[in-house]
Amino acid sequence: MEAIISYQYHVAAPTVQSWQRWGHELELAKQQSSLEAKLSCPAGTMAVLQRAFSLQLNRHDGWDCPEQAAFGWAARYYKRGVKFSSYEGQSKVQFTQSYPNFADFDFVIVDSNVQPSGEQGHLRLETSETRKTLELVAVILARWRKMQRPKHWLIVGGGILLDVACFAAALSGAKTTLLPTTLTAMLDASVGGKTGVNFPPFGKNQVGAFHFSERVIINPTWLQTLPQRQLLAGAWEAVKHAIIAADIEMLNAWLTWSGDITALPDLQANLAVKIGIISTDAGETGLRRVLNFGHTLGHALEGVAH
Ligand code: GLY
Repeated sequence: MEAIISYQYHVAAPTVQSWQRWGHELELAKQQSSLEAKLSCPAGTMAVLQRAFSLQLNRHDGWDCPEQAAFGWAARYYKRGVKFSSYEGQSKVQFTQSYPNFADFDFVIVDSNVQPSGEQGHLRLETSETRKTLELVAVILARWRKMQRPKHWLIVGGGILLDVACFAAALSGAKTTLLPTTLTAMLDASVGGKTGVNFPPFGKNQVGAFHFSERVIINPTWLQTLPQRQLLAGAWEAVKHAIIAADIEMLNAWLTWSGDITALPDLQANLAVKIGIISTDAGETGLRRVLNFGHTLGHALEGVAH
């Protein structure tokens, strides 16, 4: 099995639906907090983000706010918000049984679940839903600065690591190649350019950016060591795609899959459904929202199954 699907993405600058006048009452600190310094964002950015979340602003509303750098920074990353101009590019998804040469990359970030001992020079990170935060982004950026700002990163791991590390790459303008190691990461986080972290107490994946990887390497060999429960949880992503595509044969194949990796249904055909949606609506202005609805459905079905 060797194949490559290339797709074009186009994220349009948002059409602002209304202008919200706010933020003039905020007194911003003059000194960066230590987190702001580590993220290289202006003093007051966290206060702006917190206020924006408490006002529950829509990501398609413009901010008619004070002209301060903290507002500009926060607006870009608030709910993967403002792009000042549209952008486009090409991303490749490679289906293979081979591995990339890690030495081809100047920065390698690896999930601690994947590589317990760690290789010299690789940044090995423990991930969990509670560690999916701006603090972990700051850890990655600190290492990136120490390594003289490498420009092409290889990120190896599950969905949480991919989301966090790709957001760090978005902040630093680095190119990324992704090597997802779980079924969920292969079918969801690795494709489509959504990156981000949780922003407690305001919810999951609320601060982030669209940042598309140059290449995603899907190698099902990684799945051989995954626990059955994790494999079946990933299968719900596949079920979601089959429902969206209204493909009964694909749906049956995934619904009846026992978790036996030697009988894995067609991953490429399934991921092609998501890729088709992303190439139509990368910036999630309409069609792509169906993937979020399906996500909720998947979690519900997963709960029932358990
Ligand atoms: N996880 C949903 C999406 O990529 O849009």
